[in-house]
Amino acid sequence: MSATKDVFLQNYGPLAKDIGEIVISEEEIRQRVGEIGTAISSDYAGKCPILVGVLKGVLFLMADLLRIINIPSEVDFLAVSSYSAEARNKGMVRLVKDLEIPIYGRHVLFVEDVIDTGLTLNYLLKSLHERQPASLEVCVLFNKPTHRLVDIPLRYKGFDLPDRFVVGYGLDLRERYRNLPFIGLLKAEVLRGIKHPGEC
Ligand code: IMP
Ligand code: MG
Repeated sequence: MSATKDVFLQNYGPLAKDIGEIVISEEEIRQRVGEIGTAISSDYAGKCPILVGVLKGVLFLMADLLRIINIPSEVDFLAVSSYSAEARNKGMVRLVKDLEIPIYGRHVLFVEDVIDTGLTLNYLLKSLHERQPASLEVCVLFNKPTHRLVDIPLRYKGFDLPDRFVVGYGLDLRERYRNLPFIGLLKAEVLRGIKHPGEC
């Protein structure tokens, strides 16, 4: 952890007071998302891809990525909710909101903020695959390889993260901290639940 990243914490306002350490800075994210967006524009030229994301964590990545991509493209979202703990362990999720755009014969790029075990994504990819898109690839910004249970080929990858719970840039703890523009570790007292997350 560089001292510079810690100094910056003071500039991020009240929500950042719960952060103990910045893991990936706003500038590092901006640069990497820029590189990935540029690669997508070139790889998918002439293919009019559909970028598909799962609400709500992907909100910031999707918005930033789309503003870099300079070829015709479309965007659509899924929303999921968990079943029982048992079903969740198998990665099964219930679709609360399906795609609005038919993906049959289209080039689909699945955009994910974070992949941990990969179970959720694996389940969703299978479901999209059944609709017979022309291609189906994955773009993930934050990859946590330690607990991966299924092998998912990642066409675009932003950063490998250590096995720590992080927040910011869409990632939440009980719906808070998504709007921090960097990726950070929460202070121990917040994680232990002594302090309500992002108190207000
Ligand atoms: P998995 O890949 O099926 O294990 O599920 C990944 C999901 O777990 C993500 O979509 C996030 O909602 C959540 N998740 C995993 N790691 C983190 C983290 O460090 N912070 C916040 N959410 C996380
Ligand atoms: Mg997600």
